[in-house]
Amino acid sequence: MATPDTNKKILFICYSLSGQTSSLLARLAKGIESTGVSVTTERLHPVKQIHFPFGSIWSTLIMMLVTFFRRRVPIEPLSDKCQESYDLIILAGPTWSYNPSGPVLSLFDRDGERLFSKQNVIPFISCRGYWRMHWFGLKSLLKKNKATVPNCIIFTHTSKEPWRTLGVFLKLAGKNPERSPFLSKRYPRYGHDRNQQEESFRFGTMLGEAVANDIALETLNFKTPLSGRS
Ligand SMILES: Cc1cc2nc3c(=O)[nH]c(=O)nc-3n(C[C@H](O)[C@H](O)[C@H](O)COP(=O)(O)O)c2cc1C
Repeated sequence: MATPDTNKKILFICYSLSGQTSSLLARLAKGIESTGVSVTTERLHPVKQIHFPFGSIWSTLIMMLVTFFRRRVPIEPLSDKCQESYDLIILAGPTWSYNPSGPVLSLFDRDGERLFSKQNVIPFISCRGYWRMHWFGLKSLLKKNKATVPNCIIFTHTSKEPWRTLGVFLKLAGKNPERSPFLSKRYPRYGHDRNQQEESFRFGTMLGEAVANDIALETLNFKTPLSGRS
């Protein structure tokens, strides 16, 4: 059997507003690194900081509306890390009103072709539960930029509907639904749980081994009950 190539490199390009994507990615990175493959992370920084939570019901509604129309959020220039070549890019971020987030849309406008052309890219999505339009849109943007998209990783929040939608909305508006006597039983937490963090670690080991051994990334199964996507 051939020896795994541990000189392989993966680049994470990511945006996270409320920390959900970042915490899953931290475990994904650990999983990948446990196989000897290296991970470099490039975070997208909006030129004008966006504050989480938005602070009121009204500002949350406005944010939902403008993101539905795919308003761009200008980002700072990328660092030199993105000039190097990588075996795989993980493009990670949350769903915003059925779309990629504003910083990721700006990334495509400014750097899409240079970054993604002839590159293997796996989108990584953190969302409340409605990811299909985001995933199809992202795949089509990546293909327009001549990337190969062999797979995707999607995690949805663990609470059940309709409490999940209500809970996320209230959380974005700056309330604490998980502390309300009525909602806390139905909506115990915002975002992803510890089991999903560990699933992300497992996905990382699968990815690292596949990259190190030149196994086709299409064959990896990321559609599992814990991810919420199956
Ligand atoms: C403006 C806005 C719009 C959102 N729209 C959606 C949506 O359409 N579908 C969905 O499943 N989640 C939606 N969400 C929830 C986020 O995708 C989810 O909370 C995600 O885990 C946040 O990741 P982050 O902490 O890395 O930013 C939205 C969040 C924001 C801030």
